[in-house]
Amino acid sequence: MARVFSGIQPTGEVHLGNLLGAIRNWIVDQHEADSVYCVVDLHAITQQQDPAELRNSTLRLTQMLMAIGLDPDVCTLFVQSHVHEHTGLSWLLECTTSFGELRRMTQFKDKSDKTDFVSAGLFTYPSLMAADILLYDTNRVPVGDDQRQHLELTRDVAVRFNARYGNTFVVPEAAIPRAGARVMDLQTPTNKMSKSSLSPQGTINLLDDLKSVEKKIMRAMTDTDGDVRYDVASKPGVSNLLSILGACTDRTPEDAAEGYAQYGALKKDTAAAVVETLRPIQARFAELSNDPGETARLLAIGATKAREVAGPVLARAREHMGFLTS
Ligand code: TYM
Repeated sequence: MARVFSGIQPTGEVHLGNLLGAIRNWIVDQHEADSVYCVVDLHAITQQQDPAELRNSTLRLTQMLMAIGLDPDVCTLFVQSHVHEHTGLSWLLECTTSFGELRRMTQFKDKSDKTDFVSAGLFTYPSLMAADILLYDTNRVPVGDDQRQHLELTRDVAVRFNARYGNTFVVPEAAIPRAGARVMDLQTPTNKMSKSSLSPQGTINLLDDLKSVEKKIMRAMTDTDGDVRYDVASKPGVSNLLSILGACTDRTPEDAAEGYAQYGALKKDTAAAVVETLRPIQARFAELSNDPGETARLLAIGATKAREVAGPVLARAREHMGFLTS
């Protein structure tokens, strides 16, 4: 059975981009593959976090993933810092990644431009991400389009490690969806929807009040030519709505465009599709968030399952690299 691995950072609220670009596919994959999903708290500290807030966000994000449909009895769901193998392998991979490769990462450039304190961890982050993936002999990594470059680096590092030290790692493939791979900000549709966005009107968080979700979509930036078609370069706003509508209704953005003669109807249907997607998630989250003890119990089981896979893979990498066994 194929192994699937993916991760998400516990920073800020989960937004529509996270759902449509990644998590939605995790729900499907868990029934078709041996699936491992990780709340990547170690990645979150590449930027300074308030400790109480980090603890709270880690728990809430886990509850949100379960509210969306991840079933810890079916997949492996755990917190990255509970499985020490991640940091153990990441050092080996940092020493197999070049400075030049890390310097070319566009996410590093974007994030380091926005902060005064640029941690060394922010720079070496892709090596930790490669460790996350390679530790599980992963075949497929369902992510949004913004992670493509990190995935390519992971593949390059795996191939290099295998060439230097003998066959050690499975070389993974990225799985990027047709619709929803890059959900854009509703007000500035040339920027991706993001947790760090400065415009609350441009971002839909999964726990947003449903009335305000509707309003945000009805007020989304479009253009003046009135033609409904999927054309990201010249019609970014309309294309973003089509991509959201397509992802929520299991169609390609081109198919979702069929039959619309004006923006009003497109916005109305997109708003309705998003509201119907979010409503059950919000209801389930409200139930799950009442029982943090149960969430912690499930995470402990997830960490044990994860370690069973990660432990032998790290041991294999250490042995191939030439470390004495202790
Ligand atoms: P993160 O936490 O930023 O995002 C989680 C997932 O959501 C996707 N995503 C989007 N998809 C479509 N449109 C958007 N606007 C949008 N914004 C975010 C991301 O592509 C991602 O799939 N480095 C990763 C976390 C990570 C990881 C891993 C992922 C750490 N280790 C190993 C896969 C495998 C990140 O920061 O994702």
